[in-house]
Amino acid sequence: MIGGGYVGLVSGACFAEFGLHVAVVETNPDRLSALREGRIPIYEPGLDVLVETNARAGRLTFGDDIAQAVAGAEAVFIAVGTPPRNGDGAADLQYVHAAARQIAQALTGYAVIVTKSTVPVGSSRRIAEIIRATRPDLDFDVASNPEFLREGSAIDDCMRPDRVIIGLDQKQPERARRAEAVMQRVYEPLKKIDAPLVFTGLETAELTKYASNSFLAMKISFINEMADLCEKLGANVQELAYGMGLDDRIGSRFLNAGPGYGGSCFPKDTLALSRIAQEAQSGCRLVETTVQVNEARKAAMAGRIIAACGGSVNNKIVAVLGLTFKPETDDMRESASIPILHRLAEAGAHLQAYDPVGMDAAKSLLPPETTYCENALEAAQGADVLVVLTEWEQFRSISPKDLAQRMQNKIIVDLRNIFDPAVMRQSGFSYLSVGRP
Ligand code: NAI
Repeated sequence: MIGGGYVGLVSGACFAEFGLHVAVVETNPDRLSALREGRIPIYEPGLDVLVETNARAGRLTFGDDIAQAVAGAEAVFIAVGTPPRNGDGAADLQYVHAAARQIAQALTGYAVIVTKSTVPVGSSRRIAEIIRATRPDLDFDVASNPEFLREGSAIDDCMRPDRVIIGLDQKQPERARRAEAVMQRVYEPLKKIDAPLVFTGLETAELTKYASNSFLAMKISFINEMADLCEKLGANVQELAYGMGLDDRIGSRFLNAGPGYGGSCFPKDTLALSRIAQEAQSGCRLVETTVQVNEARKAAMAGRIIAACGGSVNNKIVAVLGLTFKPETDDMRESASIPILHRLAEAGAHLQAYDPVGMDAAKSLLPPETTYCENALEAAQGADVLVVLTEWEQFRSISPKDLAQRMQNKIIVDLRNIFDPAVMRQSGFSYLSVGRP
């Protein structure tokens, strides 16, 4: 497994749990030493136990020596980052290509080189070209096996996936059959739980990942626009989403209105898909519009907080609950909190923030003058307004009385709809949420 980040570490640990022998290669020295010492560099429920059990059983090892890791490997997974390239938003493939070259140099026998990173259509064939150019003598196949895990429930998603997509080079059927046999063995344990293994061509597998993420991003942006409409018309977006979601063609998930989607995947994958479509001279207006709607939403949310404070947050104390892009993760990448809080700080607000696990990661991304608090009530101390940005479960049980005692002005802007409007109003708060009367 090349790359011991979110995807490499979680899928490596899950493969080891399947009973496979997994060698994770990680080049970041801090990450590697943490992993070797049994410390998990990311927050993901259950991952520490899974890593520890499998490392102790000798099925999961960590190192930076790629030659040692790939010696005798039947499958080599690439799980390195593919961040957006500066300038045009296309996926930056430098880490993937570097990994492909390193793998080619290190392999000693036949292996399937599998891309787990989210990569644009055509990347697997490009990886094959790079390997061929680096090592013309090498016998290998490539496969595309995009990862669909969700941070926060990543282990369950890997151990019990809705589906596993595996793209093979169907232009060469014999080679595809050989690679398929290896992939069938990797995912053998999933057959017992009837998780579908879907075999496709390379291009389809690569595109399926972008299409899935973009569709979900579009679903979120859709409900966010419906929330705005509900506010104008006096309707309730939560009831609307419930009513819509009972239709199983629609489904209830990803219909929670909020401050705009973030995270390490949706923003970059929607941008990358727009770019892929442009390059293919094919229309992808829904996704392009989704990107614009989401950017505008984040800016609008800061405006909403300022408006709730009577048009100015200058010299006002803003208590912030939640910073990560969603609960149950410490991932701050592209979190909506980043642009919203910068906007408030520029408008003169003093920020008092609390997040159960995201504060370390937040420090380099949020305005430097932000005060980080020990808990939610400390953040509320003396505040003029309290803003909910991430729906951590623990915030739902905060007593309005405790908040009211601490806050200077009783204003709440709940961008995740975690509190009951009636309860908050009874407690004397001026309470604003998203898409609810
Ligand atoms: P990450 O940035 O957390 O991890 C990548 C790791 O690879 C880093 O620790 C880096 O040091 C290491 N690395 C880079 N080049 C290396 C090399 N040549 N040899 C060894 N290690 C190397 O990224 P993350 O979040 O795990 O994402 C990886 C890929 O998976 C991306 O393409 C992402 O879009 C995709 N993905 C991410 C999901 C997520 O929830 N984070 C979900 C599904 C897909």
